[in-house]
Amino acid sequence: MSTPADTIDMRELDRLHHLHAFTDSKAMQQDGGTRVITKAEGVYVWDSEGNRFLDGMAGLWCVSLGYGRKELIEAAQQQLSQLPYYNTFFNCSPEVTIRLAAKLAEQTPEGITQFFFCNSGSEANDSIIKLVRLYWNLMRQPRKKMFIARHYAYHGVTVATASISGLTDMHPQWDLPLPNFVSHVDAPYWYKHGGDLTPDEFGIQCARALENRILELGPETVAAFIGEPVYGAGGVMVPPPTYWPEVVRICQKYDVLLCADEVVCGFGRTGQWFGSQTFGIKPDFMTMGKGLSSGYMPISAVGVHERIAKVLREKAGEIVHGFTYSGHPVAAAVALRNLQIIEEENLVKRVREDIGPYFQQKLGGLLDHPLVGEVRGIGLLGAVEIVKDKRTRETWGPEIRAAFKVRGHCFANSIIMRAARDCLYASPPLVISKTEVDELLGTFRQCLDLTARDLGVSDFRKDA
Ligand SMILES: Cc1ncc(COP(=O)(O)O)c(C=O)c1O
Repeated sequence: MSTPADTIDMRELDRLHHLHAFTDSKAMQQDGGTRVITKAEGVYVWDSEGNRFLDGMAGLWCVSLGYGRKELIEAAQQQLSQLPYYNTFFNCSPEVTIRLAAKLAEQTPEGITQFFFCNSGSEANDSIIKLVRLYWNLMRQPRKKMFIARHYAYHGVTVATASISGLTDMHPQWDLPLPNFVSHVDAPYWYKHGGDLTPDEFGIQCARALENRILELGPETVAAFIGEPVYGAGGVMVPPPTYWPEVVRICQKYDVLLCADEVVCGFGRTGQWFGSQTFGIKPDFMTMGKGLSSGYMPISAVGVHERIAKVLREKAGEIVHGFTYSGHPVAAAVALRNLQIIEEENLVKRVREDIGPYFQQKLGGLLDHPLVGEVRGIGLLGAVEIVKDKRTRETWGPEIRAAFKVRGHCFANSIIMRAARDCLYASPPLVISKTEVDELLGTFRQCLDLTARDLGVSDFRKDA
């Protein structure tokens, strides 16, 4: 068990030596330094000061089976003793990696037959970008190079994947997006941009924006369209039902490859194995990560449709691409066991028919709160939009950062939710119980009340 002195030491070592991901180091130090996380079990994590938090984000949308699963630990241990490392270069493959690829072929949508393994969602999307280029070069259409992606999208942090991401704060620090590489189109974000249109009308309008962009650029220059079935980091926007079928039709019409980024939606989170199945997407490429191993090992995968895979097999010769740890046997063993457990415990059905609807119903109950403009979600994904004025949808603005105030109260009250822009997100482990959902969203309501009081909102419940 850590002592308070350990925490002070750790914070100091962290300050001196650790460059954090997605963190303003200066602001963190002014705030007292890093929160040192020391252990986890079930849906809870603990910090070095002994505080326990209900992890409403499953880490970073990934710990689907919850923490401390003995089966995953044993799968890693067994594989470490049998074959701790081998690679997939030069005609070789660890046995367990082959088994994982075959398992994925059973679970992914029809037609997705081949899998290329990487270590992160960013690497997987980067690999897709390269494979798309290779495909069109092999098809003697070398002018097809442009990606069309969407505003608010999050596809990773490499130079290429940050470029296709549509969250604008991901670009200026790095002189991105790359020139002549990507074109961003409107997001199906009805609450913010839908105006007077019904969600269905707006869904069609957003899909048609893709068609218009393809026509402006010239279909002979457009290689692929990429999108998350439901947005993750950009705001958990669930697209209107009209959106994806129209996108599928447009991509087929103009011979534009369709890439579904399933890094957040994959492996049950939306109530089907993949978001593509929930929304009727027919992908040529799929990106998988996070829930593939429940976050216990870094592993991701690119799923390739057979019609593309056939061209790559027959025409490409050597594919000059691959990572030292592509298909790493220990990561593959953990992922394979993780997928088996999702099946054995019927977790996809549980999300679709039981815990998902329960979570959505409880989330929906927050809509009467004066700070809440919209709640949205599907399965075990949810978002709450914080507003100043429910009627006009006016927000509190970047100076107030109301969503971050709510998040501060969440941490102080032992729950973890993620804040971005004016939204708070939840994406709990798929194994969360109803009592734990009540604890998460009940505490969250109290945090909204505390924020309302901070902001001087008069009509929040006085009994808070
Ligand atoms: C939809 C989506 N794609 C890609 C990524 C990038 O994955 P990674 O952080 O593993 O590189 C993320 C990460 O959150 C994501 O949400």
